[in-house]
Amino acid sequence: MRIAPLRSLAERYAAPVPRYTSYPTAPHFHDGIGPREAAAWMSELPKGSNLSLYVHIPFCRALCWYCGCTTTVANSPQPVAAYLQTLETEMTHAAALVPADHRVSHLHWGGGSPNTLVAADIVALADRTRELFNVDDAAEFAVEIDPRFMDRDRVAAFRQAGVNRVSIGVQDFDPKVQAAINRHQSYELTARVVAMLCEVGIPSLNIDLVYGLPGQTQASVARTLDQVLKLDPDRVAVFGYAHLPERIRHQRLIDTSALAGPGDRLGQANRISRKLLAHGYVRVGLDHFAKPSDPLAAGPLGRNFQGYTTDTADALIGFGASAISRLPQGFTQNAPRVPDYTSRIASRRLATARGFAFSSEDRIRGYVIERLMCDLTFSETDLRARFGAAEAQSLIDDAQLLIESDQDGLIEPTPDGFRVSEGGRPFVRSICACFDSYLGQSAARHAAGV
Ligand SMILES: C[S@@+](CC[C@H](N)C(=O)[O-])C[C@H]1O[C@@H](n2cnc3c(N)ncnc32)[C@H](O)[C@@H]1O
Ligand code: SF4
Repeated sequence: MRIAPLRSLAERYAAPVPRYTSYPTAPHFHDGIGPREAAAWMSELPKGSNLSLYVHIPFCRALCWYCGCTTTVANSPQPVAAYLQTLETEMTHAAALVPADHRVSHLHWGGGSPNTLVAADIVALADRTRELFNVDDAAEFAVEIDPRFMDRDRVAAFRQAGVNRVSIGVQDFDPKVQAAINRHQSYELTARVVAMLCEVGIPSLNIDLVYGLPGQTQASVARTLDQVLKLDPDRVAVFGYAHLPERIRHQRLIDTSALAGPGDRLGQANRISRKLLAHGYVRVGLDHFAKPSDPLAAGPLGRNFQGYTTDTADALIGFGASAISRLPQGFTQNAPRVPDYTSRIASRRLATARGFAFSSEDRIRGYVIERLMCDLTFSETDLRARFGAAEAQSLIDDAQLLIESDQDGLIEPTPDGFRVSEGGRPFVRSICACFDSYLGQSAARHAAGV
């Protein structure tokens, strides 16, 4: 089938769809799941479970106007110190619930900006985590940082803490774009931070970029990418700007008239990806790129709340305000605002405010959506082998309907199901949405599909 022109496809598929970092997606979590379920689900984890731990640090030194993350500006050390104490109470309680012989293979600190913590706190939090949990010596330990507020002491502290992957926020190097998003960050400053991280031997660096920001053009994102390539990152994440001013107040400071339409957004994304591929990076899932030697390129690939991952742990346990856990029985999420999180930990020692218990249909739909987001394929054989022929049948019927109704060449039938075509790749979230039986059942707003 011939693919329709990408620009008109972009307009047709611009309707809002989730990013599918989970299924069901977070807007469907409800308050029928609380600390009691979270405690029961953690204590029911099988002996010897392999765990992944996520710690959310909801603080930044300054607010970027485009930011969609759960964070606040911390102007003094006091709220951060108080938060770290609460975090320790939560982690201590959870450590007593999980099986004693668990092992932790992945640690991830996200935010916000974990480098808001001072060096001594970085080391203390990592040490306490190792006292409470059985963290493998070879565990992957990733941290997200805002390079504008990084110094030698913090770099040394992250290394001492055992961090072996650092994700650096760049977004865009064009001063005009930076002014429009309230994030001033020169190439030179970023290069100095990269050099410091390399000097102490952090083995893996990721850089985050965003397209679709105010004032960006295909030419300007290409210039930013030229500078990023000089920094030689192992991975590059390329996110489409999610503009949700109804929900995120500070995004109202963004000049909407300077935002690109769906066709131009797609043009910017394509320009970045063509350049990265030409420089030898391989595409990973929808929006990540990695050097061929990087474990993310080798797979197997999974998807979680931080995006694409090589993490195959049995459960993900999230700590801190807004953090989400994925347990075999379902998802749990902590209260998003720090005061609410703090008072819940003080009274109940867990801060679960909502969650979702999986049905057997949720599991199979979640699996199909994760495989589409990661491998861009739908395999009938794999589905039958994992879930049984009877359970798999309704999804196989859905896939058949999709193949028959695809007028745009977004998917290609295979002897065993279908794969997303090269032209359909930018629209994979819209393809996933066809398997989402909850879509449209909540008042949640999602960002544009392209
Ligand atoms: C939690 S932030 C952590 C990075 C660090 N705080 C920084 O900004 O340098 C992770 C990434 O999310 C992305 N991001 C934040 N808000 C976004 C939005 N509204 N749309 C798309 N991506 C966004 C940015 O690329 C950012 O680097
Ligand atoms: S993008 Fe990063 S530094 Fe900027 S406000 Fe969001 S979390 Fe903080």
